Amino acid sequence: MTRKTLIAANWKMNKTIKETVSFINDFKNLIKKIKNVEIVICPPFTSLNESSKLLKSSNIRLGAQNIHYENKGAFTGEISPVMIKELAEYVVLGHSERRQYFNETNQLINKKIKAALKNKLKVILCIGETLQQRESNKTTDIIENQIKNCLKDINEMKNIAIAYEPIWAIGTGKTASPEQAEETHKFIRQLLKKLYNENISNNARIIYGGSVNEKNAKALLKMKNIDGALVGGASLEPETFSKICNV
Ligand code: 13P
Repeated sequence: MTRKTLIAANWKMNKTIKETVSFINDFKNLIKKIKNVEIVICPPFTSLNESSKLLKSSNIRLGAQNIHYENKGAFTGEISPVMIKELAEYVVLGHSERRQYFNETNQLINKKIKAALKNKLKVILCIGETLQQRESNKTTDIIENQIKNCLKDINEMKNIAIAYEPIWAIGTGKTASPEQAEETHKFIRQLLKKLYNENISNNARIIYGGSVNEKNAKALLKMKNIDGALVGGASLEPETFSKICNV
């Protein structure tokens, strides 16, 4: 079983093209020596073109933060998987901010995942519970429901990484403890075994997100079932993000 560590930066709605260029130029030098980690940067759509040129001969991969499920058509303001495929290798789907502010449902996310895979994009599928759900002991029910519905009729996980992002830990400075995160990651891996098989479950990358920073990353990444991190705020500074990639 070899699961390569995946550290992804989700910049959300941050950085102009100019700021992106400056980040990448600094960051590239800082992570030159890292070999055993797959590093992905997901900037806003507007920065993808410039980023793809700058990252061409580097060991940093590029991702988008969303796609529409159709390849083209009358969907004003949307971006299709075919368009993203020209620029990036990954796409983040199902992020809690998209669920919360843009009403994305598990059903819609399922359609987007299928469209992404059809277009040979790799998916980082985000799932996670709210504080209220955790406090009423519904975490595993919520996670199971999200995974089952988001992955409905998808029969392999080769190009899908799951990002467990408890909503109460996103942007709050309240990280799940390594043990808390590990418990849920383990549950997810067992669920994948039930839904698919042992081999798929053992090879699936399950990464953690929610207030990850250069101080807490090491302890989280040490856990058996935590295969990487999806980093928001702490990925916006090259130095800080490079330290997380270096753990
Ligand atoms: P923060 O690292 O800022 O908590 O954000 C996490 C996140 O939502 C990454 O997708």
